[in-house]
Amino acid sequence: MGKYQARIISLILAMIFIMFWDYIFYMIERNPINWPVDIIFTAVTLISVWLLAYKVDNKKQLLAELKDSEQKAKALSDEKNRIMDNLQEIVFQTDSKGNITYLNQAWTAITGHSISECMGTMYNDYFIKEKHIIDYIISQIKQQAPSGMFTAKYIKSDGTIFWGEVHYKLYYDHRRQFVGSLGTMSDISERKKAVDELLETNERLAMQSQKLAIAGELAAGIAHEVRNPLTSVSGFLQLMKAQYPERTDYFDIIFSEIKRIDLVLGELLLLAKPQTVNFTAHHLNHILKQVATLLDTNAVLSNTVIEKDFTQTESCIVNGDENQLKQVFINIIKNAIEAMPDGGNIHIYTKRDEENAVISIQDEGNGMSKEKLENIGKPFFSTKDQGTGLGLPICLRILKEHNGKLNIKSKNGEGSTFQVILPLEAAAVQKEEK
Ligand SMILES: Nc1ncnc2c1ncn2[C@@H]1O[C@H](COP(=O)(O)OP(=O)(O)O)[C@@H](O)[C@H]1O
Ligand SMILES: [Mg+2]
Repeated sequence: MGKYQARIISLILAMIFIMFWDYIFYMIERNPINWPVDIIFTAVTLISVWLLAYKVDNKKQLLAELKDSEQKAKALSDEKNRIMDNLQEIVFQTDSKGNITYLNQAWTAITGHSISECMGTMYNDYFIKEKHIIDYIISQIKQQAPSGMFTAKYIKSDGTIFWGEVHYKLYYDHRRQFVGSLGTMSDISERKKAVDELLETNERLAMQSQKLAIAGELAAGIAHEVRNPLTSVSGFLQLMKAQYPERTDYFDIIFSEIKRIDLVLGELLLLAKPQTVNFTAHHLNHILKQVATLLDTNAVLSNTVIEKDFTQTESCIVNGDENQLKQVFINIIKNAIEAMPDGGNIHIYTKRDEENAVISIQDEGNGMSKEKLENIGKPFFSTKDQGTGLGLPICLRILKEHNGKLNIKSKNGEGSTFQVILPLEAAAVQKEEK
């Protein structure tokens, strides 16, 4: 109805006017009726009025549509602003010169700066200008890169600083001229802090391990100093023991504790302080046989049988310190015995290739879990009540000095094989073979 409003009203008015005119012309003035002229006159008047009113209706319609689309645009823009303002991240837009042309509410929430004051200011007025950041952005624009990212220290309105991570897109026109950017920025201070803390922890750990090394050396010095008086204490106690036969149980405990102190001190010394090493050529089998004999008694006591097969390395010579090499095998075989509390078999066999001798010590113990394997060899890692956790670290240190290696094959519940790999003394081997 609204669409035809002007046309209907003007038609009615025109008809009233024509009737009024006809009434005066024909009734009062009593002119003769001329039908053709009258009909043409009426038709022309009505059509002209209709056409004019049609224009008016059209204009009104257009105005209404314009108003409607204006309202829709406003609703859309309000909606966009509402979304933008509810974002946790700052959204910004700049023109080709880097002047800020848009900011959402997060800007004020995070930085404390008012949006209206910041409009038209430079994008880099708010972070600590570091040359590499500015250079990076300029080079990106030169290369017409489509997007980029940087982190910078931003300054809030109260002067405090936070770390901002900025992701942006760069826009170019059809002539490849830079026209502006659109991007987001978030406060990553917490994340940055966590990363920094991690780095700090790593650094601290590195420092600690350095300290531990120094402490180890110190401990070795102390160990040495403690050992001497311990020997005399132990000697005098031996003498006293004879005088107090009713207190043998006390003495037994004292001596077992002294033995333990001595053991720990001895291992500390071995680990931390480089021993006076005496590198000479030795028959590998001599060393192995001596060690096996030494530990045979231990083995028998714990119901263990040591099987030996050294035939493959009959003439092999290794260059090294005899006592230290013995220490390696003793530590590994002792572990093997301890891995089988109910007894079992330990198989020690040797193999050789062109350059190395491989000595395998295989037990039937409980083996090791993956987690244990990861920790094995770390100083003080021990799963035994009476363990020092220094046996394997000592082996590793000695083998390193002898250019040797230690391989460990172990599965939980399936026993372990420790393989000692030692380089053979080439000249000595040849001499032996002649
Ligand atoms: N043959 C083995 N079988 C099972 N576990 C072993 C074996 N050898 C070493 N381990 C594990 O490695 C740990 C460290 O050994 P080690 O350095 O000799 O210290 P310790 O013997 O004093 O505990 C042991 O406590 C044990 O858990
Ligand atoms: Mg051990």
